[in-house]
Amino acid sequence: MNTMISALTDPEHVRAAPSHRDPYAYYGRLARERPFFHDEANGWWVAASAAAVKEVLTSKICLTRPLSEPIPEALLGGAAAQIFGRLVRLRDDDVGDKLRGAVASALRGVDLRQVAALAHRRALQLDGDAQEMFRVDKTMTFMFALPVQVVAQLLGIPQGSFDDVMTWLGDYGAAAAAAATGIPLLTAELLARGHHGAQALFDLVTSISHDSQQCGPLLHALANEARRVGCDDEADVIVNAIGYLVQGYVAMASLIGSTLLALARQPALCTQVVADPTLLRPLIQEVLRCDPVTNSTFRFMARDGKIAGHMLCEGEMIIVLLAAANRDPALNPDPDRFDIARVERKYLEFGAGMHACPADKFAPLIVEVAVAHLLRRGLPFEKLEASLTYATSGHVRTPLFKR
Ligand code: HEM
Repeated sequence: MNTMISALTDPEHVRAAPSHRDPYAYYGRLARERPFFHDEANGWWVAASAAAVKEVLTSKICLTRPLSEPIPEALLGGAAAQIFGRLVRLRDDDVGDKLRGAVASALRGVDLRQVAALAHRRALQLDGDAQEMFRVDKTMTFMFALPVQVVAQLLGIPQGSFDDVMTWLGDYGAAAAAAATGIPLLTAELLARGHHGAQALFDLVTSISHDSQQCGPLLHALANEARRVGCDDEADVIVNAIGYLVQGYVAMASLIGSTLLALARQPALCTQVVADPTLLRPLIQEVLRCDPVTNSTFRFMARDGKIAGHMLCEGEMIIVLLAAANRDPALNPDPDRFDIARVERKYLEFGAGMHACPADKFAPLIVEVAVAHLLRRGLPFEKLEASLTYATSGHVRTPLFKR
């Protein structure tokens, strides 16, 4: 009974929404009725309509970190701070601006046909047992492993280190999210593991970058692009190479999971997609709009200023609800309808403005190869829903399937 009620109740606030079973009626209402508002109880502003979200993401006075605390204080003094502080994703300084172009060009320069072929080969390697249908827990292992291992391979990370890399990424990611958002709570153990993971990733990628035989095409391209734009700090290059792994790890796994759920919930659509795998591409695009991974991001005011008609003060935080904006009727007609044949679909799932994601083609492609593989192999679709929980996160929606 309680489960039933909680499933139907709105999330407590916008940072509780990504782990909520179904936050979309709530998001839709916010987009339509509360385009930009102050959440008094939590002390943050919320941008929910497509117009407000775009305004915040393209405003020069909305920064990815507060000026007074570019790196969360709790991370200072360890390797996790080095990673956090150098990622272009979390930087609004001049070096970050130059480096951002290099990070994007190197990624966009990767040959997507090669990426698809690599992902396909890796899927076959990961899936050793061709006799048995995927179990639910094996599905989850596969959805986390495949995409990040493709990125790791493009950087030149040897296969023998993949398991360690995934552990280190998970540890760094958990500590960074906890320090930046308080979700989950930062414990001494989480912090220690985060620093250890960050240092181990840094050491590994540094050693690969010094070995021309080992250095993969994406790391090579990033180093070249960085040199071309005048960024000569090696640590910046290493950290932003790690950034490709950090940014893509949970995001691509989550998108695979949400796409599988869309298929599990719509058996007729699933039959159609199995019969015609070219439908996977528009399906993934519609999942990115309707059940997105990055439910929200956040910004901080660099100074007092007006946003969406409201006066905000220096340092105030704005939660930017990408998932709500995607449900704004101003962006797409009939936004709550799941329609893979939607014409001129628009969404803000890859952000907007200077920090927009450079992997908007790369990531869905790897997800497409992964889901196509799972469909070919057969999945216990009927078991997905029953085993579903969402990872605890203030911003990212990650379906987990556990037996
Ligand atoms: C489904 C998968 C993904 C989603 C939904 C996604 C979404 C996003 C979003 C919303 C942002 C902007 C955040 C903000 O403005 O606050 C972002 C930034 C970024 N993403 Fe992705 N991402 C995905 C996968 C990836 C992958 C696979 C990579 C790299 C291989 C990547 C690299 C980056 C980078 C480098 C940035 C920072 C851009 C900048 O600040 O200049 N992303 N991503």
